[in-house]
Amino acid sequence: MAAAESHPTPETSVIAIDGPAASGKSTVARALASRLGYRFLNSGDLYRAMTWHCLHHGVDCQDSGAVASAAGQARVEIGCDGADYYPLIDGGDPRAHLRSEAINSCVSPVSAVPAVRYILSAAIRAHAQGRRTVVEGRDIGSAVFPETPYKFYIDAPPQVRQRRRRNQGQVEEIARRDLIDSTRSTDPLTVAPGATVIDSSTLDIQGVVAAMLDKLAGQGLGCAIAACSSNG
Ligand code: CDP
Repeated sequence: MAAAESHPTPETSVIAIDGPAASGKSTVARALASRLGYRFLNSGDLYRAMTWHCLHHGVDCQDSGAVASAAGQARVEIGCDGADYYPLIDGGDPRAHLRSEAINSCVSPVSAVPAVRYILSAAIRAHAQGRRTVVEGRDIGSAVFPETPYKFYIDAPPQVRQRRRRNQGQVEEIARRDLIDSTRSTDPLTVAPGATVIDSSTLDIQGVVAAMLDKLAGQGLGCAIAACSSNG
């Protein structure tokens, strides 16, 4: 590998992790960030926060024009809590509300609106670019940071993912969200070119993180990884 490729440049300090609902990507993304001393950004929380904003303002989430207009008026910022980044909308912290059933059912239609994607992708790019960050979502490797060489796609069979959600005490039908997310016209959920696909149904969290660390070390993200691997 050429010397220039062996150190992350500011543009390539992002590790992108994508995958469908309940694939385990948030857990492994946070664990990977912690092992590497990176920050962690769950981009789904921004989409959930924008959905919360729409619901809070009485916007019909199926009305893409109204959603686009509400999104255009929202002030989106990204705060920092320990190693985690989180969304702020109009100065407020909506984190306590992001996993409600109402948001679960409206987040995919809201996220399919091109204006919403434009606004949130720009916010994510502006915030994470040049910062050592693990960013998790649906389109991070394919659309938000296509230039990063560090891309993963975490997957698991639908029945395994649905069971995980049930074990978390949630009754959500994730197949509906997966269908909307993977068939929308703007930045659908897909395996980004060059992404390493990992099936999380055959590995525990530490196994998935170890597979990622191996891959990153092979790509030359070496010094930090060698140090953190030997520290366990
Ligand atoms: O936790 P879970 O995997 O179920 O979902 P999430 O990461 O919280 O994302 C919630 C929803 O936000 C997804 O179903 C997508 O509709 C949307 N999303 C997106 O469109 N693009 C992203 N980069 C992240 C999330």
